[in-house]
Amino acid sequence: MHYDRAKLNQEVPILNPPRSCIRFFVVLLSLQFFLATKTLANTIKIDDVSLDSHSFANIKDVQTTHLNLDLTVDFTRKQITGVAEHQLNWLNPAATRFVVDTRALVIEKVQALTAANTWVNVPYILGIADPIKGQPLTIQLVAQVSKVRIFYHSTEASSGLQWLGIAQTTEKKQPFLFSQSQAIHARSWIPLQDTPAIRITYQAKVKTPPELLAVMSADNSKNQVRDGDYEFDMPQKVPAYLIAIAVGDLHFKPMSAHTGIYAEKAWLDKAVYEFADTQKMMDVASKLYGDYHWGRYDLLILPSSFPFGGMENPRLSFITPTVITGDRSLVSLIAHELAHSWSGNLITNSNWNELWINEGFTNFVENRLMREVYGAARADMEANLSYHELLQDMADLAPEDTALKVNLTGRDPDDAFSQVPYVKGQLFLTWLESKFGAQRFDQFMAAYFKKHQFQSMDTEKFIQFLQAELLNKYPNTVSLAEVQRWIFLPGLPKDVVVSPSDAFSKVEQQLGLWLAQETPLRQLNTKQWSVHEWLHFINKLPRDLSLEQLTALDEVYRFSSSKNAEIFVAWARLTIPLNYPPIFTPLRDFLTTVGRSKFVVPLYRELKANPEKTGLATTIYREAKPGYHPLTQSQVEKVLF
Ligand code: BES
Ligand code: ZN
Repeated sequence: MHYDRAKLNQEVPILNPPRSCIRFFVVLLSLQFFLATKTLANTIKIDDVSLDSHSFANIKDVQTTHLNLDLTVDFTRKQITGVAEHQLNWLNPAATRFVVDTRALVIEKVQALTAANTWVNVPYILGIADPIKGQPLTIQLVAQVSKVRIFYHSTEASSGLQWLGIAQTTEKKQPFLFSQSQAIHARSWIPLQDTPAIRITYQAKVKTPPELLAVMSADNSKNQVRDGDYEFDMPQKVPAYLIAIAVGDLHFKPMSAHTGIYAEKAWLDKAVYEFADTQKMMDVASKLYGDYHWGRYDLLILPSSFPFGGMENPRLSFITPTVITGDRSLVSLIAHELAHSWSGNLITNSNWNELWINEGFTNFVENRLMREVYGAARADMEANLSYHELLQDMADLAPEDTALKVNLTGRDPDDAFSQVPYVKGQLFLTWLESKFGAQRFDQFMAAYFKKHQFQSMDTEKFIQFLQAELLNKYPNTVSLAEVQRWIFLPGLPKDVVVSPSDAFSKVEQQLGLWLAQETPLRQLNTKQWSVHEWLHFINKLPRDLSLEQLTALDEVYRFSSSKNAEIFVAWARLTIPLNYPPIFTPLRDFLTTVGRSKFVVPLYRELKANPEKTGLATTIYREAKPGYHPLTQSQVEKVLF
């Protein structure tokens, strides 16, 4: 094998190299790696080299600009087989390697497009598996080719995919597949540069069994005929974690000109009713923060094992069915995923230390939208409930994990997930809004989205923009030191602003009457209460109620049989530690049907913490596990074992 820098022309020197040749190549490449790392470390600050500690991709040398996917979804083997064709933009004139992220993928072959327009096999090495990051796939080229094709298939261990059997779907007629790529799972079903520091456009051809429909986070309009052959086009640049796919017995119903629902039949009409205000939310958001840049906004309702409440896959948010309650009480989740069309999808955290740039802004925008569409009373209640969730979370977190900007180097972003980036982030922006006034702050946010659209953002860049647009323009309002305290230090500053909720004060008043034994439960004034008020009521209940009191509450308010997952979970978290017998049957039903980790993980934690119920925790988990997403499985296992 010769190794000169001759420009790759009609022929590539290595076509199907013999084994000894590969071995020699591995040694050579490792040596080169060693030398290259040393030189880099000596000359460039480490920050510059590894923008994103969770990716192996050499984005300083070369970046994918467009991805062409050709995928076959095989439900019998539970495998996606595919070709990922990368269009490349070389940044470093000396570079000839292209490194992508993979996890649990089998790489079959890699080809490069020669200057003569022919595809030739090229050598590659799949590096040693890192437990968090997966395996780098290093593709060695002899010239800066314009395109590379990776032939691969996914495996059982592909953490970004969940394959559901017929029994785990709602209709129980067809199997289902969905992806969840955020934060670093896209690499487990597509070999790519899996970092939010860069953005790509993509196209895909997807083959499925003919009776199923495939959808992606892209333009889905080419697929009017259900025939197992689908095409997608994503003309806007997105980070890798926003590439998504789902395949199942899906049907579509429009809600308005620009919004609609994809779901299994059983959910379709219910979801159309539940989320009817989506268009209104879009209109309000566009008015406040600038144009919606993504064409349509549809919602995909997933089976109940979906590990999140929602996922902001562009053009097509993925949504848990646990928010379909019949009373539109949990639609703030839609406001949240929609809000990501600005905060997150338009301006993207440049790495996972900066998650608050996505989620804190989104929680803020979500609440702003809820205020406009449903009024201040509801928005205040929701902000108060979030604040309560933050305090609950912070009680269990290490101090360094309560800063907005965190250092996740060497840690799995999934494990560091908490309410901090969400609610502390939201509270920081609410605090800024209170200092500068709503009108100026709205303008600031609109300017922020306009100036940085389709770019990635980090904390430092945000602080600079904040200084230029608010701190310096309106001096003596907010100091840089205060901003830094919010972002870099643990805990909450003393002057955190949480608007008091009148409605919640009334709830507390009623609860007080009962606890003081002045008024029996049936005579409490609860007639007009919404789900939010009930949640506050449960949150405020003393944690040491007697069996008699719990029984009385359940008789009157039927919490143990609530079909609202938020209410059921809040009640179960209160009653598990108290060994309240009637909770355990519905709890088992809940844990064996719902896989949303925000609900499931705290419930197992309560069971585990109760010495009388640790056995039950493992029994239920054994039964529930096959229905859980890999992510939920691993989070529950961390709690239980
Ligand atoms: N983007 C997140 C989900 C996510 C975050 C997945 C980080 C993986 C890593 C999504 O927008 C989200 O925040 N979902 C919340 C909804 C909520 C705060 C309204 C959820 O799933 O509970
Ligand atoms: Zn979010």
